[in-house]
Amino acid sequence: MISFSLPYWYDLHAHFRQGTVMADYIQAHINMACAGILAMPNTKPPVSRVTGSAADEYWTIESYLKDLRASGGHVFSDIIVPLYLTQDTTPDMIRAGTQSGYLRAAKYYPPHGTTNSDHGFPLRHFMENGVFSAMEETGVVLCLHGEEHGLTGSDYFDQDTNAEDVFYTRHMPVLVQKFPKLKIVCEHITTRTAVDFVSAQGDNVCATVTPQHLLYTAGHLLQGFKYHLYCLPLVKFNADRAALRDAVTSPTNTRFFAGTDSAPHAVKATACGCAAGCFTGNIAPQLYAQAFEDSGVDLATKNGQTLFQRFLCDNGPRFYGLKVPDKRFTLKKTPSPVHILTTREGTDITPLPLGMGQDTLPWTLER
Ligand code: NCD
Ligand code: ZN
Repeated sequence: MISFSLPYWYDLHAHFRQGTVMADYIQAHINMACAGILAMPNTKPPVSRVTGSAADEYWTIESYLKDLRASGGHVFSDIIVPLYLTQDTTPDMIRAGTQSGYLRAAKYYPPHGTTNSDHGFPLRHFMENGVFSAMEETGVVLCLHGEEHGLTGSDYFDQDTNAEDVFYTRHMPVLVQKFPKLKIVCEHITTRTAVDFVSAQGDNVCATVTPQHLLYTAGHLLQGFKYHLYCLPLVKFNADRAALRDAVTSPTNTRFFAGTDSAPHAVKATACGCAAGCFTGNIAPQLYAQAFEDSGVDLATKNGQTLFQRFLCDNGPRFYGLKVPDKRFTLKKTPSPVHILTTREGTDITPLPLGMGQDTLPWTLER
């Protein structure tokens, strides 16, 4: 049986929500051998201030971190909470935030582009109001949801274009030209366009890639309308998935790394649409391993395991300057069942593979 060990890894893009259920989502990340997490700030209200107590209109990084730790996150060796960039974010907030030690990253959301992104503001705003300058100067990482907002119909998603293509063609060249030292993580990239863009940049520009975008295409979403695969950015075409697979499995990969975008939703499909987000808590390393094998990597070999470790465990922590954990876990090529997560509030969260009709994983994780 194939079996190999890896250092504990960091999930550098995930959603833990708020309230009592946070503890269930955090436990799912502990179960999958995470050393630490980057917890996204699209709570209600958003995490849009840095220090002090939470208020009706916002959470602060300080207060949200406290909640994450109190919900079981204290066991992680590190937690990064990016600041949600809103109309109210100022360059001074960035500078003072850096001084406080709480501000390490900030998240750009396309206005109304995804779950809880109503507070997002156009990229141009932050290019012009000094916020990106201050981030470049202080080394605060820009976590970027790269989709053009406000597109409809065939501009939003078509054979030859989509919201991510437009964003990476129209805005990203301008952004990196104006702020050449800004540290950027292109989050959950899904297209060949984004892969090519990131590949052409220097060490200050990286990308996260989710399990779903490595495993599936739009065809998987549409065949039987598997709404548990509905997330944003949408899964794309085979050529896009191939570009992502090449990027993450390349022997020269130093800048593509794991960020699951695990995003629990108790209710996915409603009468007037579908909540965006796939839940991959508990099982992401197993899914990534499955994706590497689907990409042609032989995980029975030392070489294959090294490529996998770079993507899952090495590249992300190096970029963020996180401690490399001493603790290790094991992946074994033996089937394991996938379970629904029933939260302490009694809600059921369906993990992605179950939503795709797959109730067994080819890999088992032991820690
Ligand atoms: C995320 C969520 O549910 O919070 N949904 C998603 O489809 N990825 C938000 C996000 O990261 O866009
Ligand atoms: Zn996300």
